[in-house]
Amino acid sequence: MFERHAGGNRAILVHLHLDGINLVDTASLNEFKILVSSAGGKVLELVTARRKAPDPKYFIGSGKADEVAQLVESLDADVVIFNHILSPAQERNLEKLWACRVLDRTGLVLDIFALRARSFEGKLQVELAQLKHISTRLIRGWTHLERQKGGIGMRGPGETQLETDRRLITKRMNQIQGRLLKVNAQREQSRRGRTRAEIPTVSLVGYTNAGKSTLFNQLTAAKVYVADQLFATLDPTLRRLELNDMDSVVLADTVGFISNLPHELVAAFKSTLQETIQAHLLLHVIDATDQKKTDYIQEVNHILKQIEADKVPMLYVYNKIDLDPELTPKIIRNKEGDATAVWISAVSGEGIELLKQVISEFFNQAVIKKTLQIKPQEGRLHALLHQQTHVSSEKILTEGGWEMTLSMTKKNQQQLLKNLPELKTRLG
Ligand code: GTP
Repeated sequence: MFERHAGGNRAILVHLHLDGINLVDTASLNEFKILVSSAGGKVLELVTARRKAPDPKYFIGSGKADEVAQLVESLDADVVIFNHILSPAQERNLEKLWACRVLDRTGLVLDIFALRARSFEGKLQVELAQLKHISTRLIRGWTHLERQKGGIGMRGPGETQLETDRRLITKRMNQIQGRLLKVNAQREQSRRGRTRAEIPTVSLVGYTNAGKSTLFNQLTAAKVYVADQLFATLDPTLRRLELNDMDSVVLADTVGFISNLPHELVAAFKSTLQETIQAHLLLHVIDATDQKKTDYIQEVNHILKQIEADKVPMLYVYNKIDLDPELTPKIIRNKEGDATAVWISAVSGEGIELLKQVISEFFNQAVIKKTLQIKPQEGRLHALLHQQTHVSSEKILTEGGWEMTLSMTKKNQQQLLKNLPELKTRLG
C-alpha cells in the first residue's frame, strides 16, 4: 500500500520502440511532445528504449526503469508520461518505484480534453471519460489525494472523489449520463430544427492543428479560441457563413482528430462528431506543409468512416500555403469539372475567395425541388420531364393533367429551361 504522489508540470517523457519498428518515428515523438506542452507540461527529458515486447511489470523493463528513477531524482521531475497505454498495475508499480506520478497516453489526452472543454456538454463528456478511466485504476492505496498540488493529470473531476469509493464514482457517472441525455435531446432538437428548415450545413473536419479554427474565424469573422496547441476546439461551434450568390450556410467547427484516440474518447465525443454526419458538405482541412499529411488524411478518413460520415460529400482544403513559397492558391477539379480540392491560407486569406466560390458551386448544384402543373394536352412535356429529371411525386388532377414534384440540380434546371422554354414561368 502506498500513497499516490503529488503531480506537477516537470515531466520526463518515455517512448518505447517495439521490435520490428526500427525507424525512430520523429513525427510521432514530436506529436507526443506537443501533446505534453498542450497539457502545460515542461519537458525535461525524453527517454527512449527498445524492446521485443512490453515488460508486464514495468512496461520498459527493470533496467530502464532504474535509469528513469535516477533521472526523476536528478532532474526533480513531478511526473513521468508514457506515449503508450499502460495497464493499471504497470502504472502503480512504476509510481511506487519512482515515487512520482505516472501518466499514460490516455490519461494525458484526457487531461488535455479537461483543459479544453468549453461547453457544458463537452465538460460533462470529459468528466465522464475521466471517471471511467479512473475507476479502472482505483485501489485503496490511492488516498489523501486532496493534498496533491495539481498539475498534469490532476485536473478534471475533483480528485478528492477518489477518497470516496467506486460506489460514489458510479453514482456520479450515472448522474452525468442523465444530464448528457438531456443535453443530447436539446441538441437533437436544434439539429432537427435546422434540417427542417433545410439550411445548408458545412462541417470543418481534420487532423488536430490543421487550422480548422483559424479557417472558421477567417470564413465567419468570428472570435473562436485559437491556440497553437492541440484540441483548441472541443465542441462544435456553429456560425453563419455568408456567400455572395446564395443564402447563407451554417458552418460547424469540430474537434480535431488525433491518431490512437483512446476508444473511450471516441464514444465520449460521439455527439460532437455526429454533428459532422448531419452536414451536407465536409471541408477536410489539411496542413499542406506537414510531412505526415498523407497519414493524417487517412487517419481522419478512417474516423469519419467509423462515425458513418464517409457518405457525406467532401472537399479537401490544403491550408498554410503561406509557409511555402512554392504553393499557390488554386482549385483542383475532376474530369466532370467538380472541385475536389482547394489550396488556401487561413492566416493570410489567400485562396479564401476560391474556397467560398467552390462552396457556392457545391450548393448551387445541390438538389432543389419544384412542384408544377402540366396540362392534359402537354403529354410530350410530361414524358420529357420523366426522362430528364427525377420525379419525386406525381398526382393526376381531377380536371385532367398532372401535378409533378421534380428534384433537380441547378445545372439541370438551367438545361431544362434552355431545351423547354415553355417551362420558364413554371420552373423559374
Ligand atoms: P485543433 O483544435 O487542435 O483541432 O486545431 P485546429 O485544426 O482548429 O487548428 P488551429 O486553427 O487552432 O491552428 C493551429 C495552429 O496553426 C495555430 O497556431 C494557427 O495560427 C496555425 N495556422 C492555422 N492556419 C494557418 C495558416 O494558414 N498559415 C499559418 N502559417 N499558420 C496557420
